Amino acid sequence: MQYVEAHGCRIPTIGLGTMTLKEDVCVQAVKTALQNGYNHIDTANFYGNEKENGEGFRQSGVKREDMFITTKVRENNLTPENFQKSLDQSLANLQLPYVDLLLIHWNNKDIPFSVSIPSLCKAKKDGKAKHVGVANFTTKMLDEAWAVTTEPLVCNQIEMHPFINQDKVLAASKKHGMAVVAYCPIARGKVPGADALERIGKAHGKSAAQVSLRYLVQRGVSAIPRTATPDHMKANLDVFDFQLSEPEMAELKALNATNMRVVNPPHAPVWDTP
Ligand SMILES: NC(=O)c1ccc[n+]([C@@H]2O[C@H](COP(=O)([O-])OP(=O)(O)OC[C@H]3O[C@@H](n4cnc5c(N)ncnc54)[C@H](OP(=O)(O)O)[C@@H]3O)[C@@H](O)[C@H]2O)c1
Repeated sequence: MQYVEAHGCRIPTIGLGTMTLKEDVCVQAVKTALQNGYNHIDTANFYGNEKENGEGFRQSGVKREDMFITTKVRENNLTPENFQKSLDQSLANLQLPYVDLLLIHWNNKDIPFSVSIPSLCKAKKDGKAKHVGVANFTTKMLDEAWAVTTEPLVCNQIEMHPFINQDKVLAASKKHGMAVVAYCPIARGKVPGADALERIGKAHGKSAAQVSLRYLVQRGVSAIPRTATPDHMKANLDVFDFQLSEPEMAELKALNATNMRVVNPPHAPVWDTP
């Protein structure tokens, strides 16, 4: 496994996303992933599958210290009391004393960073999170959060795939020394079948999904594709034995102009414009 490093945190470059995986499908996916080379699993209190993730960890037989587990506190739980409750519930669900990475899932515009960020920092000070970070933060939000944080924010988890231009937020994250973790790295199923990705994949004996993941790896970010399909799970990890050329990277980068945002809920911030 390769790693993306930020502020002393080593994030495995490929992880398993688990949003929408429920009940035994989730348990089996997490267990299978951990037994087959994955060491990074992404969940969230909001996904309603932390118990199943925890069951998957235990059934895998993999040692706790060999796993990197991320969970998140959502935007309606960012007051100090609710934050604490959400985190404690996540740890109880997972049956873990700590997670490796705890993220603010989405900001809440009605709760200032001077209120939400100290709760995040407290989680680290209390030993309930080894590292803390954010998700879906814009360039402006990153500056504001960094102005009040007492702990390094190690990552910004954002939507990233070839069909979206995230250059500004990527640069802002890097400016703060943060890692970027790409969610929806397969553009939620819109990558397979896309002409350029299929053609480039064919030239390397790889699938379009693998090309998308390799594009992200070469852009220096971590990615958390979600799948419960064993062949896809294996393929998504098999992206370290080929290199996209400069022209191929340029062609994929040009697709950023599509500017297709897959995730844009009502509580989303005003995004950076490309
Ligand atoms: N922080 C946030 O706000 C946020 C938002 C969204 C997502 N996330 C995280 O990011 C993870 C990934 O995002 P996502 O689940 O929305 O979308 P995604 O990973 O881009 O796409 C998932 C889809 O891609 C397919 N797929 C996966 N690997 C494939 C392969 N090798 N070949 C062909 N198809 C493949 C899956 O189908 P199969 O099941 O058939 O393989 C599934 O339909 C989530 O699960 C979650 O953990 C975070």
